[in-house]
Amino acid sequence: MAAVPVFLFVFVFLFLFLFLSLSLSSATETESLLRLKASLTNADAALSSWNPNVSPCSGIWTGVVCFNNAVTGLHLSHMGLSGPIDVDALAQIHTLRTVSFINNSFTGPIPHFHKLGPIKSLLLTQNRFSGPIPPDYFHSLNSLKKIWLSGNNFSGQIPPSLTQLHLLKELHLEYNAFTGPIPSFPNTLASLDLSNNKLQGPIPESLARFQAQSFAGNDALCGRPLDKPCDDSAAYSVLPGNVKDEERYGPAWATKVIVVMVVAVVAAVVFLFLHSRRRREAGAGAGEFRAVSSSAAAAAAEAEAEVQAPSVRGGERKRADIVMVNDERGVFGLQDLMKAAAEVLGSGGLGSAYKAAMASGLCVVVKRMREMNKIGKDVFDAEIRQFGRIRNPNVITPLAYHYRKEEKLIIAEYMPKGSLFYVMHGDRGTSHSELNWPTRLKIVKGIARGLSFLYTEFSTYDLPHGNLKSSNVLLSDDYEPLLSDYAFQPLINPSVATKALFAYKTPDYVQNQKVSQKTDVYCLGIIILEIITGRFPSQYHINGKAGTDVVQMVSTGISENREAELIDPELENDTNSRNNMLQLLHIGAACTESNPGERLKMKEAIRRIEEVQV
Ligand SMILES: *[C@@H]1O[C@H](CO)[C@@H](O)[C@H](O)[C@H]1NC(C)=O
Ligand SMILES: *[C@@H]1O[C@H](CO)[C@@H](O)[C@H](O)[C@H]1NC(C)=O
Repeated sequence: MAAVPVFLFVFVFLFLFLFLSLSLSSATETESLLRLKASLTNADAALSSWNPNVSPCSGIWTGVVCFNNAVTGLHLSHMGLSGPIDVDALAQIHTLRTVSFINNSFTGPIPHFHKLGPIKSLLLTQNRFSGPIPPDYFHSLNSLKKIWLSGNNFSGQIPPSLTQLHLLKELHLEYNAFTGPIPSFPNTLASLDLSNNKLQGPIPESLARFQAQSFAGNDALCGRPLDKPCDDSAAYSVLPGNVKDEERYGPAWATKVIVVMVVAVVAAVVFLFLHSRRRREAGAGAGEFRAVSSSAAAAAAEAEAEVQAPSVRGGERKRADIVMVNDERGVFGLQDLMKAAAEVLGSGGLGSAYKAAMASGLCVVVKRMREMNKIGKDVFDAEIRQFGRIRNPNVITPLAYHYRKEEKLIIAEYMPKGSLFYVMHGDRGTSHSELNWPTRLKIVKGIARGLSFLYTEFSTYDLPHGNLKSSNVLLSDDYEPLLSDYAFQPLINPSVATKALFAYKTPDYVQNQKVSQKTDVYCLGIIILEIITGRFPSQYHINGKAGTDVVQMVSTGISENREAELIDPELENDTNSRNNMLQLLHIGAACTESNPGERLKMKEAIRRIEEVQV
């Protein structure tokens, strides 16, 4: 009978604990929101429903949006509000993701919304904000997807930090007084309106895909899509083989020949790789995180590279065809690739990547490897043939290669879902929610199995993978992960390995100039933390200036006993699996110990990952 009171005691205790912690969190939310209300000059009537005696998530509070009893949005539109906005109070609400003050009467410089690190939407349309926005204002707002500042009186240049927002999808700056040139935005941008400002100069080629309306009402803008060519030849010089170039080269017969040759080489390259240019987002299937600046600029860059490589003009292109190393998907040649519809996927440390859909129905990724020029043809052939023999469900097997002295192509099957990076951060209509906990765990386990294979196959290598990051994890239709770009270290010019391979971006190399098999473990840890937190790791960014330092965030969170807050809010519904998620989070943390001696061994990491349950 003694069991009953003990049970009751525990129950009551738990209940009280739960109740207290819930009411504590809503107490701070209530307090923060009331502080905000107090900072506004005329909110009493509009926000009279904000009753301190009921929870902000009770559904009674006007404009307060909640998810799972936490405040996630503030939608205070059309209320005639004005006065200062107490952003510090809002910053206390860590779950806040959307801030909307559309159509109110706020004036003065833009408030300090940059303190709201995790927000995804900032909507300030139709107010009377004015003055310039500091250049680095958006620096810490890496999660922003939507920014609407239209219909205010903002002036000065478009802040350059806007261009570093790699998740940005909608940018509306119309009807302001912005001046100066338009910077280049990431290719994730799906909706853009810069009309009716005072912007000047050429429209970046990467933005030519938007409609002319997006740029209307800026008298000093020129270039596509506007019907107004730029006078300045600089704006045109990125376009290969255009009229301006011809004019500049003059009428002399010899220079005309050169122009014709350049145009012919450009045409060949364009034909080969850019048959149909389409918009494409960063971090695509072939997997690098940097966006292609624009297809035309890419074409020009390719052309330049081709022109500088004299061997191309001779007969070598005819001689060197494609070498098949794995014909399970059929045999093809350079001719088939040249006739394929091609699309730029992205470019990064190792070179650029294209998708090519061949007439046979086979769709491949062609990677141009610029940094593999130290090795002779025999070594290269032997390595790629070894890759071609790999048969593992979690490791991609190349199909073919093409060897030229200055440049190599490696060809593999195209995965329609793209990379893990793309699925997590690419924003192409699929929601994160597709990535539920069982799927994420399946991906991590698949990665572990792929690594287990590579650690056997290339056991003598310092870096059996060496370039492990989410953009090099491709996903099959049913989310089975396939590792790509592995075991490249012996192929890469040592002088550029530090730039080209992700292993060289870890503390092992940055602080101690030493990479080892433990370095791959660190990279695995970053992917685990990325998958569990849903964050874009700053480690992937070229200078670490965008995204979240997931290693730091997680180690701080664990030391402060706040692990639960680290989990991606999109996994919130899976409450039954919370402990298993935390178990995986801890494995990720143990893989990212900065001291390689304290870090898990690959074998141990794999064993512990296999133990995690759905
Ligand atoms: C803006 O808000 C005011 C109320 O402050 C409302 O009367 C007006 O219709 C709103 N305008 C638009 C365009 O929604
Ligand atoms: C916009 O700001 C400028 C000064 O920066 C001021 O001269 C102008 O009157 C303002 N326009 C509106 C509509 O408030």
